[in-house]
Amino acid sequence: MSLRCAVAGLNRGSRFVKLLQENADCEVVAVCDPRPEKLAEYPDLQVFEDFDRMLEEAAPEMVALITPGPLHAPQSLAAMEAGAHVLVETPNVYSAEEARAVVELARKRDRRYMLSEDYIYMGWCGRLKAIVDEGVLGEIIGAMAEYTHDCRPVKPLSAAEEQHTKAWRFHALPPLAYASHTLGPLLYLMEDRCTTATGIVGGRTEIAGGDVFPLETAVLETEGGRTINLTNGFMLSHPFIWCAALYGSEGSIRVINTNYADPQALRVLISTDAEPGWRDLPMEWHARDDGREHLQVLVDDFVDSIISGRPAPFDEARSMDFCLPGVLAHESAKFGGAKMEVPLF
Ligand SMILES: NC(=O)c1ccc[n+]([C@@H]2O[C@H](COP(=O)([O-])OP(=O)(O)OC[C@H]3O[C@@H](n4cnc5c(N)ncnc54)[C@H](O)[C@@H]3O)[C@@H](O)[C@H]2O)c1
Repeated sequence: MSLRCAVAGLNRGSRFVKLLQENADCEVVAVCDPRPEKLAEYPDLQVFEDFDRMLEEAAPEMVALITPGPLHAPQSLAAMEAGAHVLVETPNVYSAEEARAVVELARKRDRRYMLSEDYIYMGWCGRLKAIVDEGVLGEIIGAMAEYTHDCRPVKPLSAAEEQHTKAWRFHALPPLAYASHTLGPLLYLMEDRCTTATGIVGGRTEIAGGDVFPLETAVLETEGGRTINLTNGFMLSHPFIWCAALYGSEGSIRVINTNYADPQALRVLISTDAEPGWRDLPMEWHARDDGREHLQVLVDDFVDSIISGRPAPFDEARSMDFCLPGVLAHESAKFGGAKMEVPLF
């Protein structure tokens, strides 16, 4: 019997419709988006402009939430209340209160809940995990990451974009709330979680808008006694850079990508005590060993956890580990850099 699935948010979400349709155990029964022109692309499915109506009338067993960030926690709660399992894009929550409510409901209703943090599923991340686990870097002492990307609107948003899409990125996406693409892989590689978050922000909110500073930096402490520095900024005159480093007692690694559109531009540099000095790792770093598309594997793993009854690859607590520390660092920055405790669910 197929798992009845629904997808909400049909910009990036249209990819999730296809990914779920590729999975033999799934049947996509419904899609939801307030834009009729998006719904018109799915003549064979039940289509809904209203999310709650979709939950009620289509009764999906699993929902993929690929909607604007601020909707993620309310829609996750509504979906789990209605009995559905939830796969949700990043940022999955905007506060510790939202995180707690989501975790408690997932446990109370015994629903699978997973952040769709896809960077961890990329080929380079799996390869780095093997290197770290082999002990090539010795003991990992700390980490850093930077994610900066010029996402300033190139032209004024249309009324429709202001209402339904894109605008939330400019007014309601504090850069550190979008921490999971760097923090997720780092915590996964170190098998660690953050215990405190301290934030500092740069620039004026007027440059970005709403609650959003152009440049935000977090200092995070971990359960394993490490520190992680994160810097994120999306409303800057600065082309895309995604980079991360692991500092070890016997070696270090630096990953850097300067071209958003070209995953092959990713470089992985390593230096070890045995072979000091930076050198590029000569591998096809982006392709997975199994040759599969990483997002398909993520979706398939999540579906498999529902069908088999096994825990999700990242359960509700781990999903919060990857995103909430950044959210709390942003809050910390607003209060002059006060150190915040990160709840460990
Ligand atoms: N993992 C990645 O690399 C990656 C890349 C891009 C986007 N994302 C994430 O994916 C999500 C969606 O991003 P996007 O670029 O498609 O955003 P977007 O703003 O371009 O599109 C959001 C879509 O959701 C729809 N929508 C708005 N309100 C809705 C509601 N109440 N119910 C259902 N649908 C609603 C909009 O009409 C629009 O079609 C975000 O969380 C974003 O952070 C992740």
